[in-house]
Amino acid sequence: MLRAQNITKTYGGVTALADGAMNIEPGSVHALLGENGAGKSTMVKVLAGTIRPDAGTLTMDGRPVAFHSTADAVRHGVAVVSQELNLFPDLDILANLFPLREPRRGPFLNRRAMADAARPILTRLGLNVDLRTLVRELSLGQRQLVEIARALLAEPRVLILDEPTSALDRDGSDRLLGILEVLRERQVGVVFVSHILEEVMQLCDTITVLRDGNTVLSGADRADLRIDDIVSAMLGPRPDREAAPPPVPPQAANGPELRLDKVSVDEVMTGVDLRVHAGEIIGVTGLAGAGHLAVLELVAGLRRPSSGTVRLPGDRPVPRGLRRAIGAGVAVVSGDRRGRGLMLDQPIWQNIGQVRSIGLSRDGLVVRKSALRGRARGHVDRLRIRCRDVDQRVGLLSGGNQQKVVMAKWLDASPAVLLLDDPTRGVDVGAKAEIHDLIRKAAADGAVVLLASTDLEELAELCHSVLVFYRGQVAARLSGADLDQHTIVRVSNTGEHG
Ligand SMILES: Nc1ncnc2c1ncn2[C@@H]1O[C@H](COP(=O)(O)OP(=O)(O)OP(=O)(O)O)[C@@H](O)[C@H]1O
Ligand SMILES: [Mg+2]
Repeated sequence: MLRAQNITKTYGGVTALADGAMNIEPGSVHALLGENGAGKSTMVKVLAGTIRPDAGTLTMDGRPVAFHSTADAVRHGVAVVSQELNLFPDLDILANLFPLREPRRGPFLNRRAMADAARPILTRLGLNVDLRTLVRELSLGQRQLVEIARALLAEPRVLILDEPTSALDRDGSDRLLGILEVLRERQVGVVFVSHILEEVMQLCDTITVLRDGNTVLSGADRADLRIDDIVSAMLGPRPDREAAPPPVPPQAANGPELRLDKVSVDEVMTGVDLRVHAGEIIGVTGLAGAGHLAVLELVAGLRRPSSGTVRLPGDRPVPRGLRRAIGAGVAVVSGDRRGRGLMLDQPIWQNIGQVRSIGLSRDGLVVRKSALRGRARGHVDRLRIRCRDVDQRVGLLSGGNQQKVVMAKWLDASPAVLLLDDPTRGVDVGAKAEIHDLIRKAAADGAVVLLASTDLEELAELCHSVLVFYRGQVAARLSGADLDQHTIVRVSNTGEHG
């Protein structure tokens, strides 16, 4: 139906796409895969009319087409949910759902007709919020659902989703995957970009893999492939990575520790005790609202307990507010695209040096630019951040490479407490393993690490133990043979262990 061939696109000296090809068929889910920076989003932008390729052809039903804008693509039946969310934060949900083609009645927008059309779709997606709510008041996951609803309301023939589930929780992802089944039955052609390969295998019919802007696997049948085959296609020939270091045993129990004593937060948690020693990686998890994320907020100075105490290693109080907490050696890495706190117009080296300079400025030290650039280069190499050089603006990096910069900037400050909230969202498989190594190393160097993750495999693999929260209390502390994905899910849902 929609076909792209020999697509090329360069930005300055950077080749984003060298030979992009995709053939999207009705009633089929086509996965578009590749490492961070491989060219996926660039391909999506070409298919959706967001950018014009330098060369190559697009055809729709066999006829050549050229999309001059996303509106133009929508008129041809192509809708996109992009990786960078595109909503108007100061308009309400309803106004965001019908940006191009509001049903009109006389001179007035017919909000009731709009609401009637929108409600069934929002219900299916599980977004049960007043349609008059301003988008800026929504969580990232809710915004993602609004974008998806907007694309569905256009009743497209081709729906392109660029990492739609990386902002969604498990329930949101499950619902979306259910909707894609329905679209398939309705003969919509779906393009699905994701780094979560299990999800891809469960859902898609065909697979295209990009590597360095080239199409290395083109519309292959999912049934003929295993995850290993896909990973090999994504990575290409590459020397073996060094094996991950063995988990570092936590230090003696009398080392510096992070402590929560009988901490309660109104309507969120009651009487939580928690100890994390230097060198330990402790996971916190639970269903939405179970209280595990509040632990991170308490330690980051973003929330105060209504009773009980929170003490940083060295028996220090948590200063009020994130900035002061950072000054006290707390790092907060979030995979939430909006919460990354990157300075998008600033070069990579400045972003990486940012946190460290908050700490250093207290001592009145002036950090030399050349030293910062040198350090940044080290991080870029270690994390294989794909960029021209460290002077490149962060905003020009691909989504996953931006996430690697976030990781680098926090680790550069050698924090005493490392708070991680889905640190590898949107990061490809290779980089994920590298980030895991860095987290282990930070712990081995004496950091206290608290990890919240929706990725259960990540929790089970990385943590010395995992605290499962249920209705504001710690329902279980899992470690050793007890620490597996199955048990995490069971305790999260029932609060019972044993
Ligand atoms: N506007 C731009 N200016 C300069 N370079 C760009 C621009 N957009 C993309 N690039 C570069 O093109 C390459 C491909 O980027 P793209 O966003 O398509 O990757 P991706 O496969 O979507 O990666 P991710 O999984 O991280 O989202 C990257 O090296 C990126 O830095
Ligand atoms: Mg991308």
